[in-house]
Amino acid sequence: MPTHKLLLLPGDGIGPEVSAEVEKVLDRLAADGSARFEVERGLVGGCAIDAHGVPVSDADVARAAAADAVLLGAVGGPKWDGVPYEIRPEAGLLRLRKDLGLFANLRPAICHAALADASSLKRELVEGLDILIVRELTGGVYFGEPKEIVDLGNGQKRGIDTQVYDTYEIERIARVAFELARLRTGRVTSSEKRNVMKSGVLWHQTVTALHARDYSDVELKHELADALGMKLVQAPKRFDVIVTDNLFGDMLSDVAAMLTGSLGMLPSASLGEADPVSGRRRALYEPVHGSAPDIAGRGVANPLAMIGSLAMALRYSLDMAAEADRLERAISSALDAGHRTADLARPGETAISTSQMGDAVVAALSASAS
Ligand code: NAD
Ligand code: IPM
Ligand code: MN
Repeated sequence: MPTHKLLLLPGDGIGPEVSAEVEKVLDRLAADGSARFEVERGLVGGCAIDAHGVPVSDADVARAAAADAVLLGAVGGPKWDGVPYEIRPEAGLLRLRKDLGLFANLRPAICHAALADASSLKRELVEGLDILIVRELTGGVYFGEPKEIVDLGNGQKRGIDTQVYDTYEIERIARVAFELARLRTGRVTSSEKRNVMKSGVLWHQTVTALHARDYSDVELKHELADALGMKLVQAPKRFDVIVTDNLFGDMLSDVAAMLTGSLGMLPSASLGEADPVSGRRRALYEPVHGSAPDIAGRGVANPLAMIGSLAMALRYSLDMAAEADRLERAISSALDAGHRTADLARPGETAISTSQMGDAVVAALSASAS
């Protein structure tokens, strides 16, 4: 049986709380004999600033690069509001994404049957929803230069961010979206704002050309990003795979989260290119949500996005697709049995703690052990 090397980076706020539940699930999988895990721990975000003065150390970046998969909780919080911009907690996460080349961020938004009434939208709009946002993660305005605040000397300052995309960056993320669409219902929606952005024009041209060349069996539609935001809350089920840039993908995935009932439900996988020889891909798995300072330390956060991120790691990095399915079924069973953290509970429903939700998933996993 292979031993999988995992690096766990719990981070800040609710990050350590939801990470503790993932450790319970790993223990359960190991006890079942499904796999052996060697779990190292590291620091990212505010906790790394406190310990090392930087939001991620070179040593932890190297350990992340060497791991079979990285599991990250969340970073950030008001405690570090005053630190210099270059070393703010979020910079640690951005460095990991960039240095590891994790350009493809998969953010599935699935509305579990048991949660169709937990969404802020009507049940009929979200019941059965299963969309996949494919977000470009190492380019665009997050990393484009110049990025600065310039003193204009007349009492005015100028804040500058730069949106940059090269053809190869658009092509490789679009390829990921088309390939994944072939495994689903074969439909891709590409989104940008070509009506106001040159990078949007190039994005549209590049995706269109790649589609004609290699993926004409997949249905391709284009939506301007503002209209897509509107359509996602108007009729979300008309979409399957959505491919978009770093910033639009960030915003649209938080919108999509609320279609599933809570931001605490959305997992994600951030993947690099496959090594041409070993086929190995660097990968980091993390919930879409942040460190939730408003509820941190109270043991009430929903751990399902973090546990769902582990399921994605089993599928995409550890060659354990059957176990990934089993873990996702365990999440569904816990919800079917009526377990709800506070973010999911409707008036009159009893909310359970983070730890109780983790226990409910582990119990459902145990019930399905072969
Ligand atoms: P957030 O995602 O942390 O929280 C938004 C809202 O959703 C809050 O009301 C929070 O309580 C709720 N929420 C989030 N996750 C939840 C969960 N698992 N269970 C129940 N409720 C949950 O976003 P924010 O408040 O805008 O940002 C807080 C900090 O997190 C900032 O420093 C931000 O930069 C950082 N952040 C980090 C990541 C990451 O580490 N990947 C992602 C987003 C934001
Ligand atoms: C996310 C977060 C990050 C992003 C922040 C924390 C840098 O919002 O992963 O969605 O903007 O990418
Ligand atoms: Mn975000």
